[in-house]
Amino acid sequence: MRKPFLLTLLALALATAAPLRAQDPEASDAAKRPMPVGPLRRDWEAARDLHSAANPAQIRVTHMDLDLKADFAKRILEGSVRVSLKKADENLTTLLLDTRELEIQSVEAGTGGKAWTKAEFQLNAATPFLGAALQITVPKGADQVRIAYRTSPAASGLQWLSPAQTAGKKQPFMFSQSQAIHARSWVPCQDSPAVRVTFTARIRTPKGLRAVMGAKNPPPGPKLGDYRFTMEKPIPSYLLALAIGDLDFRALGKRTGVYAEPSMLAKSAKELTDTERMVAAAEKLYGPYAWGRYDLLVLPPSFPFGGMENPRLTFATPTILAGDKSLVSLVAHELAHSWSGNLVTNATWRDFWLNEGFTTYVERRIVEALYGRERADMEAVLGYNSLQGELKSFAARDQVLHIDLAGRDPDDGMTDIPYEKGCLFLRSLEETFGRPAFDAWLKGWFQRGAFTSRTTADLEQDLTDTLFKANPDKAATVHLAEWIKAPGLPDGAPRPESKAFAAVDGLAKTWSGGEGRADALPGKTWSTQEWLRFLDALPADLSLDRMKELDRAFGLTERGNAEIAHRWLLLAVRHRYEAAYPRLERYLVAIGRRKLIKPLYEELAKTPEGKLMAIDIYRKARPGYHPIAQASLDPILGWKP
Ligand code: BES
Ligand code: ZN
Repeated sequence: MRKPFLLTLLALALATAAPLRAQDPEASDAAKRPMPVGPLRRDWEAARDLHSAANPAQIRVTHMDLDLKADFAKRILEGSVRVSLKKADENLTTLLLDTRELEIQSVEAGTGGKAWTKAEFQLNAATPFLGAALQITVPKGADQVRIAYRTSPAASGLQWLSPAQTAGKKQPFMFSQSQAIHARSWVPCQDSPAVRVTFTARIRTPKGLRAVMGAKNPPPGPKLGDYRFTMEKPIPSYLLALAIGDLDFRALGKRTGVYAEPSMLAKSAKELTDTERMVAAAEKLYGPYAWGRYDLLVLPPSFPFGGMENPRLTFATPTILAGDKSLVSLVAHELAHSWSGNLVTNATWRDFWLNEGFTTYVERRIVEALYGRERADMEAVLGYNSLQGELKSFAARDQVLHIDLAGRDPDDGMTDIPYEKGCLFLRSLEETFGRPAFDAWLKGWFQRGAFTSRTTADLEQDLTDTLFKANPDKAATVHLAEWIKAPGLPDGAPRPESKAFAAVDGLAKTWSGGEGRADALPGKTWSTQEWLRFLDALPADLSLDRMKELDRAFGLTERGNAEIAHRWLLLAVRHRYEAAYPRLERYLVAIGRRKLIKPLYEELAKTPEGKLMAIDIYRKARPGYHPIAQASLDPILGWKP
């Protein structure tokens, strides 16, 4: 890192002497002045983001122009970002950007894209999981800053895959995952969901690889290694996304399509044929899709999440490719974020439930529109069941929608509370006000807040001014504060039900109690959701003989459906069904989706022999896992990186 010696000294002195905000003499004054963002007046202090060191209230980044080259040998991105600035006051000169493990090579300031001169900068001391603030002095009159930098091979927001970790086995692969605060590990930026930027990008790759971004992508021509992107709508940094690999494209509909490795493309396209209809269903409910195209990228199996709603290009795990479209509610979910999240964005990570609770609600409405009420109900019950488990085991403060994340990694907030409790809250409003009134309100919420970031308080205000004002009697029955600020569920909270599940529950009970043979169960006719319910409903004291019998009748150990296999393998560990252990190992080595593998390691770690086996498997599997997955698995296995 090239940094003037005096600046290094200054940085050291400042880092030990005072907290970041106090270093900037202009900060306190300007922070008091609210700054307009979109149609809403945003009071930056009210929406204070504990997970960003940036100072958008003073100098805000409005546009970024990325120019990066991917070096697969070094596993780094290298190049520059040019950021356009808007100052709350012409006299302000300190720009603060978030970074993590970036090597900053030079910083220049310019005016109108010209007159570039070296700018003073310092990289402040790093804070655990937040990274280091890059403090830049922007001369008066300058409106742009250009930063030359390179990423670390260990960047938390990037995963670099060897050819062996891909489907094709010939070319390497790399992908980003910026949410929650990992964008700063590959782009110096104001890494707060309250700051929106437009961007343009040029990405260079080795020939034979294609770069894709959550942006307007070039038409999928030959893989020449030089690609340009634009994102004309302002987006928060957690939606910045890039992937590079041997990727081909296939259209699904007139504005939908899928990118995947060549050998995965046909299977992906077949599974995802309903995507175009999903977009139409969502538009019918919530108004026009604001982003132009909706494409998906099917990633290699180490992708640590099920899906990520990157704008115009959802990133998805290949574990949804069940062969029978039974897991495509994940597409409905990521598509739903095009309204709840990407259009109306949580202003801070405390407000994460505004993204995920709303999205889970919208997801189920899309599923209902395409596949009927029964399917949506089954998925709601599965979610409710999982939520009940967390409500039993979580500390009270972690059961709250408007969660306190002070001093914590925002990724820790990804539990069923924002998703399922948040969704139940919206369902309770739907039940209270009736579907027509509630649907009109929700559509209005998306319209009123389009391209802005909102706090939980903004939501309370909006409800009070609209839906509640128009229906005062019904509003009087809503326990708004309790839903948002209290642990657990309020009395009278909705309790999703499914008729199909009632039948499955009955069979799980009688059969596990010793009645009838496994091959007499109607398992061949069950949907994926019914299977998941059946496996969830089996009692803790199920005998090993019954496990064997079930496996013999339905071949559960060799099931390709990743969700069913997950539940089955969990039972196998719990009941020491050793015949499934080789499959367990293959599963854990092949898949890196955190939600599917973490519970398996946790279950193994409950017994001394299990833990030994887990560590043995982890040794083989860990090199293939994403840094985010590694970070949550290391503590379970006592692994010292
Ligand atoms: N935006 C989330 C993924 C996320 C959340 C990544 C927080 C990092 C931090 C995405 O929309 C999501 O919720 N994915 C779910 C799938 C969904 C069907 C519940 C997942 O990955 O499991
Ligand atoms: Zn989501």
